Amino acid sequence: IPVDTFDLVIFGGTGDLARRKILPGLYVRFLAGQIPEGARIVGAARSEFDDDGYRSFVSESIAEFVAKSKQDKTAISEFLKCIHYVPIDALGKGGWPDLAKLMRLDTIRAFYLSVGPRLFGPLAERLHAHGIANDKSRIVVEKPFGRDLKSACALNAVLAESFEEHQIYRIDHYLGKETVQNLMAVRFGNILFEPLWNSQYVDHIQITVAETVGVGGRGGYYDKSGAMRDMVQNHMMQLLCLIAMEPPSTFEPDAVRDEKLKVIRALDPVESHEIVRGQYLEGENGASYQIEAENPDSHAESFIALRTHISNWRWNGTPIYLRTGKRLRARVSEIAVVFKDPPHSIFGPQEGRRGNVLVIRLQPDEGMNLRVTIKEPGPGGMRLIEVPLDMSFAEALGNDGDDIPDAYERLIMDVIRGNQTLFMRGDEVEAAWAWTDPIIAAWEDRHDKPKPYDPGSSGPEDSLMLLHRDGRRWREIR
Ligand code: BG6
Repeated sequence: IPVDTFDLVIFGGTGDLARRKILPGLYVRFLAGQIPEGARIVGAARSEFDDDGYRSFVSESIAEFVAKSKQDKTAISEFLKCIHYVPIDALGKGGWPDLAKLMRLDTIRAFYLSVGPRLFGPLAERLHAHGIANDKSRIVVEKPFGRDLKSACALNAVLAESFEEHQIYRIDHYLGKETVQNLMAVRFGNILFEPLWNSQYVDHIQITVAETVGVGGRGGYYDKSGAMRDMVQNHMMQLLCLIAMEPPSTFEPDAVRDEKLKVIRALDPVESHEIVRGQYLEGENGASYQIEAENPDSHAESFIALRTHISNWRWNGTPIYLRTGKRLRARVSEIAVVFKDPPHSIFGPQEGRRGNVLVIRLQPDEGMNLRVTIKEPGPGGMRLIEVPLDMSFAEALGNDGDDIPDAYERLIMDVIRGNQTLFMRGDEVEAAWAWTDPIIAAWEDRHDKPKPYDPGSSGPEDSLMLLHRDGRRWREIR
C-alpha cells in the first residue's frame, strides 16, 4: 500500500535501536519503493553531527545490519538524500527551533522516541511548546513501557497531556512479526480451526520463546527486569491474546484491541506453585547470568515458566503454559495448540498416542505443523502413528524468507499509514501490568530465588514438573 510523504524524527537517532533496526529497516522499505518522494528522516540526539556526519552513520548501519544482497550503492546514496540531523537537548532548549524550522506544513509527522521512558514527558512537552507536533502527528514509543502498573499509568498520563490515544503508537515488535499476524489469518481466514478452538476440544496451549543468547551487555537493564517484565508482560502476553481472543468483528485497530484487552482482563491470578523461575549457570559458551549481569547476588530470572488460565466461556478449564528463557538449547518461538483425544477409540487402547497438535512456528523457519494420526504402513494390523503435516511458509510461498519484512520495517510503515492495529493501546498495557504486578510482588515478598539451570538445557527441572504434575509435557526445545 503506498504511503503519503512524511517527516519522521528519530529521537535517540544515534542509539542502538536506531542503528540496528530503525535505520536499516527504513532503507529496506526505500529499496522496496515504499518511501515516497520528499520523505525526510531526521535523526535527533545529543551528538554534534551535521547532516553529512549522520549520513555516514546511517550508511555504516546499513553496511552492518542489512543483508549484503540488498546493499545497492546507488539506492543507498539516493536513500541518504532523505536523511537529516538536528543536534538536540531533550531536557533543555538547544536545537528545538532548528527542528521546528525543518518540519513542513501539511505533511505527516511522526516522532519516534527511541529513548529511555524518563525522556517521554520532556520530549512530548517540547514538541508541543515549539509547535512541532500538531493534530496530524504521531508519536512512537518503545518498551519497556513502565516496570509496573503505577509507572505505566504515569507514562500514559504524561503522553496523554500532549497526544490523543489515536496518535500514540506503543511498539511491541512481536506484533510486527510475519507469523504473528499469520496467527490471525490462520484462525479467522479458515473455517477449519475455529470450531475446535475452545476448551471442549483443546486440552492445553503451550507458548515457548526460547533463546540461545544470554543477557550479554544488557545486564544492567535486564537485572532490574527479569524475564517476566522483559518478555512475558509484553511479547508473550500479545501472543496469548492473539491465540485466545474472540474473533473481532473487523480487522480495525480498536476492534482487534478490544478483544485482546478482554483476554488480558480474564486472566486468572497465578499462584506461586504455578511458576518456575530460573537463572543460567556458567557453561562452555559463556559466563553465568550473575557474572554477565555483574550482580553476584542477583535474584532476577533469566527463565520463567508458568501456568495460567483464562476465565471465560471459551477457555474455561484449558490451561495455558508460557515459557521463555535465555541460554537455552535452541532458538525457537512457537505456539502449540494441543487437542484432546477423540472421545472414543475404535482401535482400542493405543500406547503412547499423543493426539493432534497444531504448532505455529514464529521463528526460525516460520511455518505451521499439524500432527495427525494415521495407520502405520505395512501388514502389521491397525497400528496408529503420528505424522506431521508440515508447512514451511518460505517453501510454500516459494521464497527464501528474504522478502519477509522485518518487524520494525512493517511497524514503522504502519505508523506512517496511521494504522494502529499492531500497536498496544494504553489500557492493554495497563491491564497486562495489573496481571503481572501481583505475581512479581508475591515472589519478591517471599524472597524467591530462581532455580539454577545449565546453559544449553531446557531450563530448570522444575519447569518439566510443572506440566508433569498435570499429566502433560512440554514440547522439546530444538
Ligand atoms: C526484546 C527483549 O524485547 O526481545 C530481549 O528485551 C529479547 O531480551 C528480544 O532477546 C527477543 O526478540 P526476538 O525478535 O529476537 O525474538
